[in-house]
Amino acid sequence: MFWRKLVTKKSLLVKPEIEQKIDALLSQMTIGEKVGQMNQYSGVYDATGPMADAYDPEEKFRKIAAGKIGSMLNVIGTKDTREAQRVAVEESRLAIPLIFGYDVIHGYKTMLPIPIADASSWDMDIISKGSRVAATESAAAGIHWTFAPMMDVTRDARWGRIMEGSGEDPFLASKIAVARIKALQGDDLSGIDTIAATAKHFTGYGFVIAGLDYNTVEINRNTLYNMVLPPFKASVDAGVATVMNSFNDIDGVPVTGNKALQRDVLKHDWSFDGFIISDWNTVGEMVVHGYAEDLKDAAKKAAIAGTDMDMQSRGYEIYLEELVKSGKVDEKLIDESVRRILRVKFLLGVFDDPYRYCDPEREKKVMLSDEHRAIARESAKHSIVLLKNEDNILPLSKKLKSIAVIGGLGDDKDTPLGSWRGKAIKDSAVSLLEGIQNAVDESTSVKFAKGYTLASGDREFIKELNFDDVNDTSGFEEAINLAKTSETVIMAVGEECFQSGESRSQTNIGLKGTQLELLKEIKKVNDNVVIVLMNGRPIAEAWMYENMPAIIEAWHLGSEAGHGITDVIFGDYNPSGKLPMSIPRNIGQVPVYYNHNRTGRPVEFPSDPEVVFWTHYSDSERTPQYPFGYGLSYSTFEYSDFSISSSKMKIDDQLEVQVKVTNTSSIAGEEVVQMYINDKHSSTIRPVKELKGFEKIALKAGESKTVTFMITEETLSFYGSDLEFKAEPGEFEIMIGGNSVDLLIEEFELI
Ligand code: NOJ
Repeated sequence: MFWRKLVTKKSLLVKPEIEQKIDALLSQMTIGEKVGQMNQYSGVYDATGPMADAYDPEEKFRKIAAGKIGSMLNVIGTKDTREAQRVAVEESRLAIPLIFGYDVIHGYKTMLPIPIADASSWDMDIISKGSRVAATESAAAGIHWTFAPMMDVTRDARWGRIMEGSGEDPFLASKIAVARIKALQGDDLSGIDTIAATAKHFTGYGFVIAGLDYNTVEINRNTLYNMVLPPFKASVDAGVATVMNSFNDIDGVPVTGNKALQRDVLKHDWSFDGFIISDWNTVGEMVVHGYAEDLKDAAKKAAIAGTDMDMQSRGYEIYLEELVKSGKVDEKLIDESVRRILRVKFLLGVFDDPYRYCDPEREKKVMLSDEHRAIARESAKHSIVLLKNEDNILPLSKKLKSIAVIGGLGDDKDTPLGSWRGKAIKDSAVSLLEGIQNAVDESTSVKFAKGYTLASGDREFIKELNFDDVNDTSGFEEAINLAKTSETVIMAVGEECFQSGESRSQTNIGLKGTQLELLKEIKKVNDNVVIVLMNGRPIAEAWMYENMPAIIEAWHLGSEAGHGITDVIFGDYNPSGKLPMSIPRNIGQVPVYYNHNRTGRPVEFPSDPEVVFWTHYSDSERTPQYPFGYGLSYSTFEYSDFSISSSKMKIDDQLEVQVKVTNTSSIAGEEVVQMYINDKHSSTIRPVKELKGFEKIALKAGESKTVTFMITEETLSFYGSDLEFKAEPGEFEIMIGGNSVDLLIEEFELI
């Protein structure tokens, strides 16, 4: 067994008084009732996977009354959750309340920016505020538990679920995961505005080969331990209540049946005391994987491997009682799973008041409140990354004579709500056009031309959209004429909301349809073009990045998108976002990520073109279009006076690293100061650089601040081939700057 034993911490979830109550309840439960707690059913709302059986509410109520269902997903709203809960507590023998789970990924009614956008803020306070809005609204709709945050480290922009994560870096992803979990769960899970969080997808799902959703993954131990697992470990340390496993296998064993990962690493080594929920039918899919003979075998393998709750396969419901009675599955394992599930239920306070989250008055009051909309706007503007701003074309004056807003995404009130949108009201976002109209002086003429149509088909969740066959150029003339006669063009391009998200893998991550063609035509008639990119994944479109003077990466920014974008366009907010994921130059580079391992032939493109034997492409540059950590501001920042407190560090000592950052411009701004390390020689190969610290600072015009980072043994430690988390003596580089490429470098030695 290669899984090492990790240092454990005291559990945040185990409380003696609750454990006693669980003991008392467990002693009264039949095996059937125990298994019932381990069974989760989906309701009918937005089925988020292939349904196991036809929806029959009466049958579900009968099963709840019989104690055969412990939790439901996709049952939402105070009315419906109250009714199902009433059956559980009034009609089942032991009156054990249900808990209701739902995918609240970036908001329930008020939509916050999609997670990859939110991550671009690198601002834990903003991220927490957004998650608080999501928790408050969903808790008011009867929901106890969200299947979020997703913390899969992702490198492949073809994968649709890029939008749900925090990008390519495990350090940033860990910080964001912890911020989100703490905001969702609060200090007290039983509070009326807190919900249980889920660390998902444990583990490796972000590495699906070729970005193809549900595909198999290839991850070596080095990558698993140093890149993939850290956000999960950080989440467990932060007290996350539940962990969701993943569809994929690791080393040929589906995670749902992977005892080494679930029982040994997560539950034992990390002392995780919450419960593991399977992903949708991952128990049943072990049969399709060819890892289990049939659903009964799958249920046995999953239970033994430590999967505590079965989402939607019915394997536990149908077979687990029999497997226990026949001695195939030890009842002790079932008791342990049920203890974990009941623990979370007690912590949520549903035993004290099963209807705690079912108050229709509160439900009405909190949804889309002014306060929540204001936070959505704050989050939106902080999530924007300014990619390009030639000749300081931005910010625009609010008193321009005329602005042309061009592009199907420009007046789109739905796309900004993003994929995985909870119960957002269709077409309820502030569009870019509306944002501009609300921002400019009344003397400014704002005209809109659609120009291109992005997709045909039904936008409803899960139904297919057609993105490629939209070759309609009938709107070009109007758009080009408008561009010709306007002082400035603001052109929206990118992806529709459901072009990214679960099962939305794409082989083309450029601009679809006629967008690029129109863009080229517009550029011919007007040089003042500001591009607003709306997308759920990095878009590879070199011509656009190289030829357009100003580019704003706006992702899908939620209910207040149009306001957030125009806050930046017109300079009411000075952009401060940084990319959490590299933007490739072209699809052939994918996966391109900054923290890749050192190779034996790393030099930059050799000056002698005849020399070809180096790590490079012969038809494209090797570097991404925009690197991890990159983002401009209307201010300019200078880094200087970089110092390390000593050139040598003893292993149990620490170093102080300082850098002076000066705002050399005439306007106030914020900068994300980033610190990277490079372990120059190590027993297993390390990445060329790794983010190990960052701080977002605000600087007035001309102001300087000194930023301090501490280097400790932990900063320098990694999992080597012995899977011990430790630092190895030797030389290190410390790099500091405003992105992962433009860095000041100092060295020291660990002795
Ligand atoms: C499948 C997805 O992978 C998971 O993230 C989600 O939480 C479940 N479906 C439930 O909707």
